[in-house]
Amino acid sequence: MHITIKHIKNIIGIILFLIASILITSNSYSEQSAEEVIKDRKALFSKNYKIAKRVQSLSNGGEFDSAKELMIKMSENYKNLLELFPENSKEGFKTSSLPFIWEDKENFNLLMQKSSDDMVKLASLIETADDINLSIKQSMWSNCKACHSKYRQPH
Ligand code: HEC
Repeated sequence: MHITIKHIKNIIGIILFLIASILITSNSYSEQSAEEVIKDRKALFSKNYKIAKRVQSLSNGGEFDSAKELMIKMSENYKNLLELFPENSKEGFKTSSLPFIWEDKENFNLLMQKSSDDMVKLASLIETADDINLSIKQSMWSNCKACHSKYRQPH
């Protein structure tokens, strides 16, 4: 009798230890992935900024093939960004994302998708556009501004 109770206590002890271990590891795991995810999305936005400037200058220089390649690249980056705003990445790690993103996730994602689609559209029309600067403004720069004004901390 005495031995059985001791035995049960031991088993409960082991189970509690296992649960605690799982909670601790999964928690530090998500902490780490929040840091990773924020780093990744900042890097992608910075990349898109560089690409945007290249798209502008290549298009103005009439180098449409190179410009179009970069437009498609930017479109893909936007699609990857859709996955980089999980619930656990609202704050910390120098994010300048506003919490409003997660209150308005559906519209935020729609705007991200629209920004991606607009770059594909821009690639298809740039060569025959009457006003290159206007087309780039409408299909590229205006989306940066529309999103930042709502979802990013002023800087
Ligand atoms: C659909 C929304 C959305 C669009 C479109 C968008 N951005 Fe952003 N951008 C953000 C958010 C949100 C952040 C803040 C990311 C963070 O710090 O977590 C950001 C951050 C940035 C940063 C700072 C990155 C860093 O290292 O902190 C740059 C640069 C940037 N965006 C440039 C652009 C440019 C250029 C465009 C257009 C070509 C653009 N963004 C389009 C939402 C958007």
